[in-house]
Amino acid sequence: MGVAQAMSPDLIDGFGRTIRYLRISVTDRCDLRCRYCMAEKMTFLPRNRLLALEEIAIIAERFIGLGVRKIRLSGGEPLVRRDVIELTRRLGGHVGDTLDELTMTTNGTRLAEHAEALFDAGMRRVNVSLDSLDPVNFRYITRHGDLTQVLGGITAAKTAGLAVKINMVALKDLNEAEIAPMLDWCVAEGHDLTLIETMPMGAIDEDRTDRFVPLTAVFERLGDQFDLQRDVAGTGGPARYWRVDESATRLGLISPLTVNFCDGCNRVRLTTEGKLYSCLGHDDQVDLKMALREGGVAALDDAIRLAIAGKPARHDFRIERGSAPAVARHMSVTGG
Ligand code: 5AD
Ligand code: SF4
Repeated sequence: MGVAQAMSPDLIDGFGRTIRYLRISVTDRCDLRCRYCMAEKMTFLPRNRLLALEEIAIIAERFIGLGVRKIRLSGGEPLVRRDVIELTRRLGGHVGDTLDELTMTTNGTRLAEHAEALFDAGMRRVNVSLDSLDPVNFRYITRHGDLTQVLGGITAAKTAGLAVKINMVALKDLNEAEIAPMLDWCVAEGHDLTLIETMPMGAIDEDRTDRFVPLTAVFERLGDQFDLQRDVAGTGGPARYWRVDESATRLGLISPLTVNFCDGCNRVRLTTEGKLYSCLGHDDQVDLKMALREGGVAALDDAIRLAIAGKPARHDFRIERGSAPAVARHMSVTGG
């Protein structure tokens, strides 16, 4: 390790970006099979290849020591992993001290059961993936999801004191017409809404080109119906935000295909297997599990710095008919 690196407490990549945000996929498994995310028949990792809870905690705490201020637990569906609440409690112990925020991205199917425990552990916000408010369409998109169950989970989250942000992937002919009603619903319920363009990650059972909706066009149409005021607070991530109709609701757009946001990227991603991906759109990774198991915490620190130093300038996502996904792994491996 160079002297400059040894002196810097922070993680700064080769393009001057400081890493403050770690996303952790705690499992690649999920109880749903959203069409844009997974194939109907998915092969998941054998459980013995996963990081143990203790290893996830050690790695996360090293990142906190190196300046990371925000951690998101993701998946797959994080709440299908049995010990995730224990992990939440352990990491939640740092909130308000060395960690600003601990959040979770969930599909909501098990939120009713766990919302209170998440809040008690120190979590204050969750992102819930919800691509339709129509029960039949919801079931179609998720291949077997039950809308009532997810809406119950969202209500339970609110009741427990968790702020809710809805994630909606825009899908041509599937939920495009539901975007404006979804925003109406979010304003009425006091949720934020983030719209996401489909990203070419992992093989699914259809051609993503058929479902791609450019959010630039969606945004123009929403502007006819809603008063959208650009909100510059809380940027630094990939989403751009707008205040909706002077309500508490913020609309976010994540449009990797139409508007590149890599210049301000402050995040890295840890997979279920302990690999650190410094970019969602590239295959470069560093094996933190091996570093930790073979060389302990010192080797872990070196491996983390190596991965950050190699963080690519930008993703190279494109959606073209018949083209292979930009990366072979599914979003569920790196946790979005
Ligand atoms: N493209 C865009 N979004 C995706 N998600 C899962 N797979 C994809 C994909 N290929 C979404 C989920 C979740 C978030 C983490 O990413 O719906 O809300
Ligand atoms: Fe599961 Fe989320 Fe993928 Fe849907 S998008 S299959 S809920 S991981």
